[in-house]
Amino acid sequence: MNRREFGHTGIYLSPITFGSMRLAPDRVRLDLAVEMITRMAERGLTTFHSSHEYESYPFFCEVMQEFRSKKPSAEVVHIAKIAVPHFHDATFTGSRLSTLIEDQLRALGTERIDIVQWLVRHQPNEDEQRLTILAECQQALTATWERLHGEGKVGVLTSFPYSVPFAREVLKLPLCEGLVTYLNALELDMVPFLDAMEKAGQGYVAIRPFHAGLITTENMGQSSCGSFGVALCANRSNAQMEKLVSTLRILNVPEDTVTDFALQFPLLHPAVASVIVSVTSLNHADEVMDASDRAIVDKETFTKTINSLSPSLV
Ligand SMILES: NC(=O)c1ccc[n+]([C@@H]2O[C@H](COP(=O)([O-])OP(=O)(O)OC[C@H]3O[C@@H](n4cnc5c(N)ncnc54)[C@H](OP(=O)(O)O)[C@@H]3O)[C@@H](O)[C@H]2O)c1
Repeated sequence: MNRREFGHTGIYLSPITFGSMRLAPDRVRLDLAVEMITRMAERGLTTFHSSHEYESYPFFCEVMQEFRSKKPSAEVVHIAKIAVPHFHDATFTGSRLSTLIEDQLRALGTERIDIVQWLVRHQPNEDEQRLTILAECQQALTATWERLHGEGKVGVLTSFPYSVPFAREVLKLPLCEGLVTYLNALELDMVPFLDAMEKAGQGYVAIRPFHAGLITTENMGQSSCGSFGVALCANRSNAQMEKLVSTLRILNVPEDTVTDFALQFPLLHPAVASVIVSVTSLNHADEVMDASDRAIVDKETFTKTINSLSPSLV
């Protein structure tokens, strides 16, 4: 699996990032989880996304510890989700950022968080307040970041913006080197930023290419969800399923290649370095690695796809 540079940062990611949110001991045993990650790593996986807020976090840390003792020379790149301020905090504080970074370094057993996915939160979590926090925190953020960076504890700062207006503002900051946020055939809000990000040397990591398991061959083929002809699904909203079916029809995606399409679509754009996907079974791990082996960068096809789906975004 060819590595892709995250923007012009010198940090290289595997096209697939292992998303740890669904990795829980009630879904997969420790030895199986280690085997799955080892198998994916042998096929080129280097990059892992985690959050200390996920219920799966202690188990993921245990899995990574086992994996590292089994494969001590394996390259590991960490993307970690860090919220400062958190919902109940009034303002940004450098001390919370430092403490969370130090905690993640210890828990993950690593010397550096390569990509910090920064979230600015507020209660209520609205742009008016979040944009004010962003504007007011610049001095404290820069001072703390420069210290952590100087100590080699962090690589690059990126944003999970929650909204388009916030993405627009955060991408203007010299410290912000890209976005780690949603991008799949049903979540296209950030597409208008991609070309400018590519030009500016900023990177993008696309979250949930399968839209949480919806955009997969397996899901489309399960007859209660219906093949393309039947837009009904017992456990999904009809509107979402109908939108997906019409999207796949517009794009002429064959029913048996939906998983490939879902993984490969974000990676067509040169700004997108990696897609974060959850897998908890060896079969899914193999399918994901097979699909990413065939992923290419092809901006023209990306643009044509967007044009078919949502022409106003191009
Ligand atoms: N705010 C944030 O930063 C944020 C928010 C959401 C998610 N994330 C990150 O993104 C990752 C992915 O999110 P997600 O899990 O919601 O979405 P996703 O990766 O799009 O979908 C995961 C689902 O797809 C299934 N799957 C995987 N490979 C498959 C295959 N080959 N065929 C059929 N189904 C397959 C998985 O099943 P199995 O588990 O059974 O393999 C799982 O149910 C998370 O783990 C997390 O790290 C971050």
